[in-house]
Amino acid sequence: MNTVVRNEKKQYEFVSIDTASPCNARCIFCFNDWANIKGALMEPEVFEKTLPLLDMTGYDGFYVSCLFEPTLNPNFTKILSMIPEAGKNKAFFTTNLVKKLSEDELLAFSKANLDHINISLETYDRTLYDRLTGTKGSHFYENLERLSVLSKENGMKIRLITMILKSNIDELPTLIKRSREEISPVRHELRTPYYFKASDAQMDVAENDLLTRKELDEKKEALIAAAGGDENIIIDLSNDLESFKKKRAEDFDTHVTNSCERPGSANYRVRIESDGTGHFGHRAETKELFDLHDLNDPGQYFIDALIRLQSLEASNYFLGEITEKKKGLFSFGKKKDEALKDLTLPVTLLETRTPSSLDEAVLFDGRFLHLSGWEAFSLRNNNVSGQRMLLIKDHDRFIAFKPFTTERPDVAAALSDDSLKDSGFYLVIDTEGLSAIEELSLYSAVSDGEKIIAEQIA
Ligand SMILES: C[S@@+](CC[C@H](N)C(=O)[O-])C[C@H]1O[C@@H](n2cnc3c(N)ncnc32)[C@H](O)[C@@H]1O
Ligand code: SF4
Repeated sequence: MNTVVRNEKKQYEFVSIDTASPCNARCIFCFNDWANIKGALMEPEVFEKTLPLLDMTGYDGFYVSCLFEPTLNPNFTKILSMIPEAGKNKAFFTTNLVKKLSEDELLAFSKANLDHINISLETYDRTLYDRLTGTKGSHFYENLERLSVLSKENGMKIRLITMILKSNIDELPTLIKRSREEISPVRHELRTPYYFKASDAQMDVAENDLLTRKELDEKKEALIAAAGGDENIIIDLSNDLESFKKKRAEDFDTHVTNSCERPGSANYRVRIESDGTGHFGHRAETKELFDLHDLNDPGQYFIDALIRLQSLEASNYFLGEITEKKKGLFSFGKKKDEALKDLTLPVTLLETRTPSSLDEAVLFDGRFLHLSGWEAFSLRNNNVSGQRMLLIKDHDRFIAFKPFTTERPDVAAALSDDSLKDSGFYLVIDTEGLSAIEELSLYSAVSDGEKIIAEQIA
């Protein structure tokens, strides 16, 4: 392959851990399905087993807490102190600050030297706060004030998250300004609540406080004006009452995603529950589950898992080796779909060069080759198999892959050909058992029913 190949080490996109899974609040918009959540607290010895993952994820990638309330773990400050200095800038946690926190705890948070702490701030109105969070006599405001002071003294960065709701929308312009003066957050994200799936009662309550698209449009300007062009104030108005209701009517499952929706990044997330069990990516993508209690060498386990996950992802693109022999076909073909019939056909290589480009070739962990680019050949000729195919030629054998199609409006515009807007491809190849990458060639291919015709891309 006559192209520059970049070598990279695969990392987990993020590691989301909870060290406590109860919550001392019941926010009306909360995406947690409380009827199905068992509270558990993670022991420090179990948390220790997550630490090798720090080296396997990047900036902002290590969530010490994510979905629940970490301050409810009596060992939480100890847990924070266990994070090695070198990895602290990847870590953060999110808290509601509802529980009465001692001066020692607040001081420990402010000195934890993490990248930042997220704090949820919905309103400065105490009555409304109680209603929105389902709490009474919360210590939120005193904790917030104290932690803000200590964080400024000790250099801890604070980020705020604020939900945009019917009952607080008119207050938000003042809340943005007041929190900027009093807390000086490095980032303030204001978001319309995401859809979630829970009991009807929980979803009914949330729906009551969601804004319609029209209402959001009307209030948008006031929020933007309050942000005053500060790029660290993020206003996400993408979710409205209508979309929530629509997903609810469809019984949309937030846990199921199509692994092909995000080429090149499927499965590279780790989720660890506070009881020590965990899984990768979304449950639908891989069935591999683990329990930290059972892992004697968690570092090696998570390194090996990265290879297994990449191998799984590559298998989604793999169709099989092309052969003309009728027997023993596709002995290692994993996808038994109709398209495989095409692979019994002989391959004819054309000398023509329909426009194409291999834009990027990245080799992860010396084994998994990610190729992306665009090609017009299969789009223009593929009226027989309906199956878009790319071939790798390794000396005298051909191996077929089903690429993920990506949008390339830039190509369509540059070549003034609207049919090329879907000409992009993304492909992951497990190169184990193949020759060196320089010796491989890449082709776009189509079947005319009797043979496979192919044109070289790279
Ligand atoms: C689930 S909470 C867990 C951490 C902690 N208990 C808290 O509330 O700060 C994490 C963040 O998600 C936000 N959140 C909760 N439900 C949400 C929803 N439906 N859509 C978007 N964000 C939500 C919370 O406001 C909070 O900032
Ligand atoms: S504090 Fe956080 S976890 Fe608890 S109910 Fe509110 S949003 Fe959910």
